[in-house]
Amino acid sequence: MHVLHVVGARPNFMKVAPVMRALAGRLGIGQTLVHTGQHYDINMSDVFFRQLEIPAPNENLQVGSSSHAQQTAQTMSRFEPIVLTHQPDLVLVYGDVNSTVATALVCAKLGIRVGHVEAGLRSFDRTMPEEINRLLTDQLADLLFTPSADGDANLLREGIAAEKIHLVGNVMIDTLVHLLPAVERSDVSKRLGLKRKGYGLVTLHRPSNVDEPATLLQLMGALAQIAADLPLIFPVHPRTRQKLAALSFPMDDPRLQCVDPLSYLDFLALQCDATVVITDSGGVQEETTYLRVPCLTVRENTERPVTVTLGTNTLVGHDMDRLRLETQSILRGAIRQSHIPPLWDGKAGERIADVITSWSNR
Ligand code: UD1
Repeated sequence: MHVLHVVGARPNFMKVAPVMRALAGRLGIGQTLVHTGQHYDINMSDVFFRQLEIPAPNENLQVGSSSHAQQTAQTMSRFEPIVLTHQPDLVLVYGDVNSTVATALVCAKLGIRVGHVEAGLRSFDRTMPEEINRLLTDQLADLLFTPSADGDANLLREGIAAEKIHLVGNVMIDTLVHLLPAVERSDVSKRLGLKRKGYGLVTLHRPSNVDEPATLLQLMGALAQIAADLPLIFPVHPRTRQKLAALSFPMDDPRLQCVDPLSYLDFLALQCDATVVITDSGGVQEETTYLRVPCLTVRENTERPVTVTLGTNTLVGHDMDRLRLETQSILRGAIRQSHIPPLWDGKAGERIADVITSWSNR
C-alpha cells in the first residue's frame, strides 16, 4: 500500500508529522511526501520540517504566492503529473488551505482515493477562503478523519455517508504532546526578555483582520493599549508584515514587540508561559485549550467550537472594547474552568493509521 501525503502551508506541517510517524510503524506501507511550496520562507517551512522531524519532501511543486485562483490552478496543474507518476493507493490531504482543496480535486478527477485529515470543521462563514476549502475537500474525500464530534455531525448533515467518517481526535495535539518535553530546549523567553506568565502572545494573519487598513489599525491601537498593562510579543506573519509596512506602521513599541515568525518549539514555549494569547489562528485556539492558557480569538466565529464550549477560548469578534475588557478580566485572575476535549490525547495519528490499515485490507 502506497500513501502520498500533501502539505503546503505552515499549519499542515504539524498535522502530517504524527500521521507519517504512525504509518512508518506499520508493515507494508510506503509513503511519499509532496510539498506544494505554498509557504516557502525558511521560517514558515524549513524550520518546521527540522523540528517536527518530517522527512524531506520527495517533490516540491514550488507554487509560491499568488491570487487564490492562480495558486489553486498552479497547484493542480503541477500536482497532476506527480500523482500520476507515483500512482498512490491513497492521497492524504490536511487542514483547509488552498493546497488541500487543489490536490484533493486533482485526485477525485483521476479516481485516486483521498483521505482528509481534520475533516468536518465548519465556521459557517463562506467569506473565509478556508471554509470553501473545507466544504469542497470533504465532498471529494473517501475517508474523513474528524478531530471532534461536531465534525461528524456537520458531515452527516451535508450528506456524507457515515461509513466514510472516522472520529480520530486532533493530530495537531499529537505534535504538541510529542514535543512538549523538548520545549525546555527553547531559550526564547530569555532572548526576548519575557517573564513566565508576565506577557501576552499575539498572532494575526486572517484576511478579515489584516487586509483592510482601518480594521488592522484599530486592532494595533487596541493592542498598544493592552500593552500598557501587559507586555505583548507579536510574531508577525509575512502577510501581516506586508500590510503594516504598506501603512508605514511603526513596529518599534518596546511593550508591543513585533518579531519575525517563530519556530514551532519557540512558539510553543511562549504559549505555555503566556498570561493570555490573542489570536485569529485556528490551531492556536486548539493548542491553548490543551495547555489551559486563556485565548481571546479576534473573530466572529470559529470552526473549532469545542475550544469555546470545553476549552479556554473566548470569541471577542471585532469589538476592540471587548478585547480590552476580557484581557483586563484575565489579568484580574478571572479564569473559567476548562477541559481538554475527548481524544485530544496524542494518539490521533495512530488511530488514523489503524483506519488506513484496515481500509487497505478490505
Ligand atoms: C495560508 C492559509 C491559511 C493559514 C495560513 C497559515 C489559504 C487560503 N490560507 O494563509 O488558512 O491559516 O496560510 O500561515 O490557503 N508569504 C511569504 N512567505 C511565505 C508564505 C507567504 O512572504 O512563506 C506572504 C506572501 O506575500 C503571500 C502572503 O504571505 O502573498 C500570504 O500567503 P498565502 O499562502 O497566500 O496565505 P496565508 O495568509 O499565509
